Amino acid sequence: MATDTATPVVIEDAPGASNPSDTILQVRHLRKWFDVGGRFLGLGQRSWLKAIDDVSFDVRQGRTFGLVGESGCGKTTTLKVILGLEEPTEGHIYWQGEDVATMSRAGRREFRRSVQAVFQDPWSSLNPRMRVQAIVGEPLEIATTMTRQQIRDRVGDLLVEVGLNPYQMNLYPHEFSGGQRQRIGIARALALNPELICLDEPVSALDVSIRAQIMNLLVDLQNEHGLAYLLVAHNLATVRYMCHEMAVMYLGVVQEMGDTEAIFNNPLHLYTNALISAALPSHPDITRDEIILPGEVVSPIDPPPGDVFMTRTPIEVDQSHQYANERPPLIEMEPDHWVVETPWSLATDEALQASIYDEEAEIRASEEERRRLAASN
Ligand SMILES: Nc1ncnc2c1ncn2[C@@H]1O[C@H](COP(=O)(O)OP(=O)(O)O)[C@@H](O)[C@H]1O
Ligand SMILES: [Mg+2]
Repeated sequence: MATDTATPVVIEDAPGASNPSDTILQVRHLRKWFDVGGRFLGLGQRSWLKAIDDVSFDVRQGRTFGLVGESGCGKTTTLKVILGLEEPTEGHIYWQGEDVATMSRAGRREFRRSVQAVFQDPWSSLNPRMRVQAIVGEPLEIATTMTRQQIRDRVGDLLVEVGLNPYQMNLYPHEFSGGQRQRIGIARALALNPELICLDEPVSALDVSIRAQIMNLLVDLQNEHGLAYLLVAHNLATVRYMCHEMAVMYLGVVQEMGDTEAIFNNPLHLYTNALISAALPSHPDITRDEIILPGEVVSPIDPPPGDVFMTRTPIEVDQSHQYANERPPLIEMEPDHWVVETPWSLATDEALQASIYDEEAEIRASEEERRRLAASN
């Protein structure tokens, strides 16, 4: 990875990421490609799994940025690279205006304190052999000079803050329900007074009845502490409830991004429309036309150089056009609402009509097929 040592750092705008003044985290042109071999005796072309490919966005103080998309689109990988659990293949992560890759040791230590994480599965993310006190107190033990008693007191306060009881610090994780375990994970993430918490599907492993409680807790903590969240989810209801800004990802590439309400009120990309149509409506009387995209998700291994969504469009693709051979850029269609610029990424009436699942037509077609077969026998 290229490192630039020049100071002061100039963080360039990227489409959809325009450095608002309250930005604390800037992600610019981030790529994570996994070498998945494919060479014979070390010869020939390498195969790359492009988990994320040129992703840029800003996370603002006290606000939530959401990454949404189907399983495998690169959400967790993005978080892992930001958290330093994976090395980026290319691109930069800036924290408070400083490139994380070229930070001093002290700067990096401060970055690790300021950016914490809560993971998806509250059953596997907590060490089963540790008591809650040790789990929640561990970051304090590692990163501070607090005494045992001070840590005990702080853990008690943290448990209260997430809606648990201080006496529960002597219990083990298996003595809690899923929702309570996620509260323990949140308490641990809060221990060092972070400014940003990365939330990887924080409620998707929980019972539906518990999800709202945990989301409300997160929103309350955000308001109280001015916390920023980077939230990853495949569930659109969670994203709409929690996120101020969002990006829709497909095969490691951002397809649509901007203000959450602007996107939900006027989803531009065919893929965003399909995700929304597939989400359960909040009321049983609401029916929606279900959009079924043609084609299949292509493999993220050695994807074609053009638009990654090309194989899912109902509109005919001109293979000689630039968009079929180069990644098309995001363009701003309305204030703070960006979408990939291709003829099919915009959910035009033509594209939508062609994609709406027509049950009656399907039945008619299969009856005709049966009649045709009967006639030919
Ligand atoms: N360590 C790894 N080696 C190879 N491929 C990986 C690795 N980690 C993730 N991937 C691949 O990267 C893609 C994105 O994965 P991930 O970020 O976990 O997606 P999501 O969180 O959106 O479900 C997937 O195709 C996944 O198989
Ligand atoms: Mg994931």
